[in-house]
Amino acid sequence: MRVLVATASKHGATTDVGAAIADVLRERGHDVVHADAADLVADAGALETAGAVVLGSAVYTGQWLAAATTLRSRLLRMPDGPPVFPFSVGIRDVTLAPLDAAWLRPLRAGAPMHPPVVFGGRLRLEELSLRERSLVAIVRAREGEYTLWDDVREWAERIAARLAVDAEDADRR
Ligand SMILES: Cc1cc2nc3c(=O)[nH]c(=O)nc-3n(C[C@H](O)[C@H](O)[C@H](O)COP(=O)(O)O)c2cc1C
Repeated sequence: MRVLVATASKHGATTDVGAAIADVLRERGHDVVHADAADLVADAGALETAGAVVLGSAVYTGQWLAAATTLRSRLLRMPDGPPVFPFSVGIRDVTLAPLDAAWLRPLRAGAPMHPPVVFGGRLRLEELSLRERSLVAIVRAREGEYTLWDDVREWAERIAARLAVDAEDADRR
């Protein structure tokens, strides 16, 4: 199946999580394209040709990045659209109200929709702008690597298993 892994990232952590997911799906025999969400926003047909979409965004001050939000809205407006597997990458203690619950709700009611997951990202002060650094200093977030790669790969394996079940169901119909 053609699987689109779309990631929105400012400093690369979400891109790396998306790449790890793409690797697992490729190992499971899927035809995987991993693309930057911002590039996909400009490519109107990209979502239509996907058999499934893994959509991930970094979380900044409780929000997904704009490009991922745009793709999310487009997927919401596709009633017969592909199944969507959403994930967020963040560091939960960085803001007072991290990961606004509304953004983690399922994307689409009644359609192939999968529960969203959250993975830890990373914080490297030298990569941040002055503005980002001051925000991080205010909330006293600590530098570090928070990604649990086994969890990422396990989730990707679950996606592969789900797609296999869906394909069997489709064959039977
Ligand atoms: C200015 C700033 C604000 C952030 N806000 C949040 C947040 O609200 N919730 C959260 O879970 N993580 C937050 N983070 C942590 C980032 O999501 C984390 O560093 C992530 O790895 C960034 O992903 P990226 O490298 O793909 O851009 C914030 C980080 C920075 C620098």
